[in-house]
Amino acid sequence: MKGVLLAGGSGTRLYPLTRGVNKHLLPVGNKPMILYPLEKLTKVGVKDVLLITGPEHLTPFAHLLGDGTEWGLNLHIRAQVKPGGIAQALGLAKEFVGGESFWVLLGDNLFEDSLNEMQSDFPLKEDEAFVALKEVSHPDQFGIAQMERGDIINIVEKPKRSIGNLCVTGIYAYTPKVFEVIAEVKPSLRGEMEISSVNNFYAQAGKLKYHILKNWWMDAGTTKDYLQANRFIIGR
Ligand code: DAU
Repeated sequence: MKGVLLAGGSGTRLYPLTRGVNKHLLPVGNKPMILYPLEKLTKVGVKDVLLITGPEHLTPFAHLLGDGTEWGLNLHIRAQVKPGGIAQALGLAKEFVGGESFWVLLGDNLFEDSLNEMQSDFPLKEDEAFVALKEVSHPDQFGIAQMERGDIINIVEKPKRSIGNLCVTGIYAYTPKVFEVIAEVKPSLRGEMEISSVNNFYAQAGKLKYHILKNWWMDAGTTKDYLQANRFIIGR
């Protein structure tokens, strides 16, 4: 499988840390954040990776990662001109992906489980997609899966009322059919093309496979969570 790593967005929830530096290049422990998800892909045998980031950050990523050889990868880097949402960024991977199923990781998600453990339902059928879930204590900050009889039936992005505490993490797998789904997605009230809208298409059709993560998982997207991720990684 190929891999797509998303490292765009504006990182405003980390200001002033991210005013001059892309969020995913900030250090976590002894290395830049992006290397955690990148190394998850290499450990599961991914050889081709597309990294998507804002145009102003192409050069720093190229300095850090080169062409990927150091990680045994063919690395491609592509610009998302404006941060129009995770689904919009993912849409830019269409030509790179070609005809195969592929992993998608959000560059600010750090986790312990191996991608290998999540593959029990693979290969995905053409009309299926996959998400990794994790219980969280603040469901209002994430995309949350509504479950019925063991299936994901709906996903609500940052729910205002309680619908459960199973977060849809930034670990996904899709087939190329996802690009047809993305083409139909309309921007949300906050003006972004939401990955939850894409995943909802599959959930509502009963085609969203999932795996509940067993070990630690973190989203380092706010200053508090970023500092906590550092404390956790350094203290291990
Ligand atoms: O971490 C898991 C959560 O990530 C999910 O539960 C949510 O459903 C999902 O929407 C996302 O929520 P966030 O509020 O954390 O998304 P954020 O805007 O921080 O973006 C997450 C990553 O996606 C970020 O590391 C970079 C990438 N991204 C984001 C946007 C908006 C892009 O590459 N381009 C973009 O335009």
